[in-house]
Amino acid sequence: MSRSSIDLTAFFKLSYGLYIVSAGVGEKKSGCVVNTVTQVTAVPERLAVTVNKDNYTCELIQQSGFFVATVLTQDAGMDLIGLFGFRSGRDEDKFSQVDEAVDGNGMPYVLNHAAALFSCKVCQTVDLGTHLMFIGDVTEARHLADGEVLTYAYYHAVKKGGTPKNAPSYKGEETAAPKEEPASDKKTVWRCTICGYLAEMEELPADFICPICKKDASFFVKV
Ligand SMILES: Cc1cc2nc3c(=O)[nH]c(=O)nc-3n(C[C@H](O)[C@H](O)[C@H](O)COP(=O)(O)O)c2cc1C
Repeated sequence: MSRSSIDLTAFFKLSYGLYIVSAGVGEKKSGCVVNTVTQVTAVPERLAVTVNKDNYTCELIQQSGFFVATVLTQDAGMDLIGLFGFRSGRDEDKFSQVDEAVDGNGMPYVLNHAAALFSCKVCQTVDLGTHLMFIGDVTEARHLADGEVLTYAYYHAVKKGGTPKNAPSYKGEETAAPKEEPASDKKTVWRCTICGYLAEMEELPADFICPICKKDASFFVKV
C-alpha cells in the first residue's frame, strides 16, 4: 500500500466528540483533552481512550490503573481547551485553575463544562506505538448537565480550534484546522498556528504570548 492511496481528507469524514481524560497518583494529577473516547462494549460497559505516550496524563493512567472521562459541553471555552489540550500537567497544576472533584476511585476530574462522567478501571492496555489505548471497565457513569455536547467538527468549524501533534488525529499544520478569514477587510488578524487563537491587531508585539497555549509570537501568522 503506497502513501498515494492515503487521501488525508477522508479522515475528516470521521466524527468525534471532545472529552477531558484525567488521572492522579498522590499529589500528582493531570488531565488532557482527547477526541478518542469511545464505548467499546455494553456488557460489561467498557470505554477506550487513546493517549499519547508523551502526555503526563498517560503516565498517570498507567501508574494509577484508573481514568475519568468527562464529556465536554459545547459552551466549553478555548481557555479550558487551551489549558487541558495544549499545556502539560508537568509544567503547571491544571486542576488549581478549574473546579475539581474526585471520583469513587480517587481520580481527579474537571467539573467545568462537564455533561457526563465515566469513571473507569483499566482492564487492558494496547501499545499503538506513539499512543497507548486504555480500555477501562466503567465503575461509575453519571449525567452531569443537559445541553449540546462538543463535537470535534464544531470545535474546528465554530471555535476555530487547532489540533496539537499529540492528538492521533493530527494531520500536519496545513490540515490541522480550517483557515480563518479576517474579521473584516480593514483589520489585521494574527492566528496562532498551535491552537488557532486569533489576535486582531495591526502589529503583533515581539513579546506577545498566546493566552490559550502560551506559545510566543514566532508561532503566529498573519491571516
Ligand atoms: C482537540 C484536541 C484533541 C486532542 N486529542 C487527543 C487525543 O485523543 N489523545 C491524546 O493523547 N492527546 C490529544 N490531544 C492533545 C493533549 O490534550 C495535549 O497534548 C495535552 O497538553 C497533554 O497534557 P498532559 O501532558 O498534561 O497530559 C488533543 C488536544 C486537542 C486540543
